Amino acid sequence: MTTQAQSDKDRVVIFDTTLRDGEQCPGATMTHEEKLEVAELLDDMGVDIIEAGFPIASEGDFAAVQEIATRSKNAVICGLSRAAPKDIDRCAEAIKPAKRRRIHTFLSTSPVHMKYKLQKEPHEVLEMVIAQVTRARSHTDDVEWSAEDATRTEHDFLCRCVEAAIKAGATTINIPDTVGYTVPEEYFALMKMLRERVPNSDQARFSVHCHNDLGMAVANSLAGVKAGARQIECTINGIGERAGNAALEEVVMAMRVRNDVLPYSTGIDATMLTRASKLVSAATSFPVQYNKAIVGRNAFAHESGIHQDGMLKHTQTYEIMTPETVGVKQTSLVMGKHSGRHAFEHKLEELGYKVSSNQLEDAFVRFKALADRKKQIYDEDIEALVDEEIAHAQDRVKLVSLSVIAGTRGPQRATMKLDIEGRVALEECEGNGPVDAIFNCIKALVPHEAVLELYQVHAVTEGTDAQAEVSVRLSDKSGRSVTSRGSDPDTLVASAKAYLGALNKLMVRRQKGGIAVGEARVHSTDAG
Ligand code: KIV
Ligand code: ZN
Repeated sequence: MTTQAQSDKDRVVIFDTTLRDGEQCPGATMTHEEKLEVAELLDDMGVDIIEAGFPIASEGDFAAVQEIATRSKNAVICGLSRAAPKDIDRCAEAIKPAKRRRIHTFLSTSPVHMKYKLQKEPHEVLEMVIAQVTRARSHTDDVEWSAEDATRTEHDFLCRCVEAAIKAGATTINIPDTVGYTVPEEYFALMKMLRERVPNSDQARFSVHCHNDLGMAVANSLAGVKAGARQIECTINGIGERAGNAALEEVVMAMRVRNDVLPYSTGIDATMLTRASKLVSAATSFPVQYNKAIVGRNAFAHESGIHQDGMLKHTQTYEIMTPETVGVKQTSLVMGKHSGRHAFEHKLEELGYKVSSNQLEDAFVRFKALADRKKQIYDEDIEALVDEEIAHAQDRVKLVSLSVIAGTRGPQRATMKLDIEGRVALEECEGNGPVDAIFNCIKALVPHEAVLELYQVHAVTEGTDAQAEVSVRLSDKSGRSVTSRGSDPDTLVASAKAYLGALNKLMVRRQKGGIAVGEARVHSTDAG
């Protein structure tokens, strides 16, 4: 069922854009450290090209692309740029430290984009394509050109742009379905038409980049590959603008499991897919849909009696791939309060974490505290704990203590102590419910104008003593939003941690480019 294609012509290059198109979507902002960690994992997993960011967009994006480039091992590090010379030059500067680097430069080619977005005539756009690729080539030999909104572009004009881009030196030509509009048959025909009609098409690799607005990003990407494209642009968990991009784990596993009809290979180590999914979910605080293909919590769960019976008789009755092939470890009762540091460290390694000694120390202390409160500790508990440790290691504002009075007799009241950049401050507030009282305390201690957009509670495992995992999304005045997660056996403590996590992310953003979060206010201090 899973014979792997060997020939070079069937090798599909995986271009991951989790850190660019993925991070661009509302609420998915990652911190600098999170981006470095995701990039390291993508590199280790065998991703061929990592699109690390959009360097001209902000100082933060530039710094992240530059550091990812510096630390890169095998992957090509790519930066995105528009057509303007200063965009391209900034991108070139950011990727310079990478052993292997690519500039990805794009321009809209569809009538609607040219008229309203660019306000340019087609002949002007064609000249810009030549100029942007030529400039990018002056910095590096590896240049990708994208025809933004290609699937709504007139075919003759698209052919002329693609031909001009290749002539100017583009080595990869990307045909994005920017608005998620196409369907597999149409995308197949478009890719085939370009490869047949563009005279110099054999001098570049063609690439697919599909958005998921109609739920067809993966199907469209694979149709493009069938028509001759040999690069897929995708993201972990399918995160991205609006409904997202094609999911990396889905395109990779589709080509593996159905290699009989999709005879292509990639360099991805599929056993790292689950870890990558969890890391990106933790870094962005975007929960993975339970029934998400390949990496969802239920992707390998068999609930109905008939299915369970079949599975016990022969796993292939209901399983087209084993959980182990994508790195799923059976949920196990792992450790309890008697487990030592060594066992804990070993467990983290087994779960795929690489943590610094300080992070290990802090995580171990928190593990012990959790083990005192919760009888059975599962892998998921440890993952929630370590993910939180990694995500919040750099936080400026941390929760010290919280007590809440709640119940049928309102108003509810919270008393909270925060460590604000090393100084401890205390506040007591009422609210319309305990969560409201907690958030009011935070607002009083750290005045800010951010707006709460989402508040969601999940249980990490089963049972009434399960840890709660709370997601909070805040948006700033400019409309950009960040999401953060907090976990704790106490739902109210998890809520406070999640809100503070999001606020910390906004504060980092403000430091790097100006957002509306007021200065933290320390009204009463104590030495603790
Ligand atoms: O969707 C799109 O068109 C893009 C381009 C920048 C490649 O993300
Ligand atoms: Zn895109």
